[in-house]
Amino acid sequence: MAIRTIRTEGDAVLTKQCRTIDKMTDRIRTLAEDMLETMYEADGVGLAAPQVGVLKRLVVIDVGEGPIILVNPEIVESSGEQTGDEGCLSVPGVAGQVTRPNYVKVKAQDLDLNPFEIEGTELLARAFCHEIDHLSGKLYTSLVEGELHPVAQEEEGDEEGEEAE
Ligand code: NI
Repeated sequence: MAIRTIRTEGDAVLTKQCRTIDKMTDRIRTLAEDMLETMYEADGVGLAAPQVGVLKRLVVIDVGEGPIILVNPEIVESSGEQTGDEGCLSVPGVAGQVTRPNYVKVKAQDLDLNPFEIEGTELLARAFCHEIDHLSGKLYTSLVEGELHPVAQEEEGDEEGEEAE
């Protein structure tokens, strides 16, 4: 596994549509492993392939309940509402208020391209929405209500940091 460079806002790769993965390859498996390692290293709770420069529909998430890998994810159901601070590893040092559904159901495929469904509420629902938006070239900053505000850079070993996706 390897740490990949996280692209930041202003990089055109973050504004593009990602392509569906219709054939699994060792390259894509390695990409998924690298994305998880890169996300953990950056203390994030989610990462989408375009954030490491790859325009494929692949997302990794871990909100503290173990790793989730989503190939070709799509939101098929959502309900409720939550408003809270959201951050992004591609927009470092800031956060802003975003309203998202409080419940989301996602249809996706695993690394063998077997289909499955997964549901989430609260932070996990927010992460699903945020990461799947990345696959359409959409950053949370376009959804922020009010101003972005600075967040303290996380100290080494600090457990209280802002979650970033
Ligand atoms: Ni993000």
